[in-house]
Amino acid sequence: MALLEIRGLSVRFETNDGAVQAVNDVSLCVAAGETLGIVGESGSGKSQLSFAVMGLLARNGRAQGSVLFEGQEILNAPPKLLNRIRAEEIAMIFQDPMTSLNPYMRVSEQMAEVLTLHRGISKRAAVAEAVRMLDAVHIPDAAARVRLYPHEFSGGMRQRVMIAMALMCHPKLLIADEPTTALDVTVQAQIMQLLSDLQRDFGMAMILITHDLGVVAGACERVAVMYAGRVRETGPVGPLFAGPTHPYTQGLLAAIPRVDQHEEELRAIPGAPPNMNRRPPGCAFAPRCPYLRDGCTERHPALEEFAPERSRACFAPVADVLAQRTRAEEPMR
Ligand SMILES: Nc1ncnc2c1ncn2[C@@H]1O[C@H](COP(=O)(O)OP(=O)(O)OP(=O)(O)O)[C@@H](O)[C@H]1O
Ligand SMILES: [Mg+2]
Repeated sequence: MALLEIRGLSVRFETNDGAVQAVNDVSLCVAAGETLGIVGESGSGKSQLSFAVMGLLARNGRAQGSVLFEGQEILNAPPKLLNRIRAEEIAMIFQDPMTSLNPYMRVSEQMAEVLTLHRGISKRAAVAEAVRMLDAVHIPDAAARVRLYPHEFSGGMRQRVMIAMALMCHPKLLIADEPTTALDVTVQAQIMQLLSDLQRDFGMAMILITHDLGVVAGACERVAVMYAGRVRETGPVGPLFAGPTHPYTQGLLAAIPRVDQHEEELRAIPGAPPNMNRRPPGCAFAPRCPYLRDGCTERHPALEEFAPERSRACFAPVADVLAQRTRAEEPMR
């Protein structure tokens, strides 16, 4: 049984401008201890997907479908169950640490609260555990620093505090939404290393949401590529990066700068993602797609398994997309 199984999940927001379909019929699984990367351009629905799983959608949002955690339905579950799941089983860290840290409370108090409120542990024991966790995320002099307020930490240190707080209850699954985008490159690398060490030590599964394909290559076993609210391609990281079979994945990978490449050889994907509340029929990537064919603008392709563990949603034959990639790479060799 998968630890987390998302089946046919859709998220829709009602706005004055009409309905916004932010997530559309997404199905994904995460096994215990596994790391799944979710990538896709800004607005593709990555955060709303995880907010729906956590029961944290904005008031104008509605989620449909099914989310099973250890076989138990948690989508739109009663607040009591969701509170327990969020306190004991699934933790989330956000792009901006100040979303989850209270600026007016000492770090010791907010970290201890996780245990005193949900586990009935004494304040003293809970603060001792907080110090242990700050130590685990390599905050120097944790016993003294635990008494500080969040603003007294640097950006990178604050990110560590947030990770320590998320781990207080030893979650089985950590959802990390762009955990390093606000940080400079060296700190980013340290935090990613820290996350993967902690994951190994705690035996946690992780969903890692990021724009950065390099981070996915280094940290994840499997990846799901999202575009305009839908999963377009999934598979193990190695084979998927070596041979992307969806035109959008191919475009994303071609847009990564490489050290051996001149600037003019970088290929950005032409065009822009669609407006999510005025969606034409057919595949949402069609207006930007170099493999456009009959039917692409009328129907949208289903996500189908074409090889073991690999799925894609595209009408263009796999061989055509792979052949094009080989041709495109040739002049660079
Ligand atoms: N409360 C809301 N009301 C209406 N639309 C919303 C609301 N919250 C999010 N959306 C829309 O949902 C879509 C998906 O947003 P989401 O935050 O999941 O994107 P994302 O993939 O996480 O992007 P980024 O990489 O920039 O974080 C966007 O079009 C966004 O404008
Ligand atoms: Mg987001």
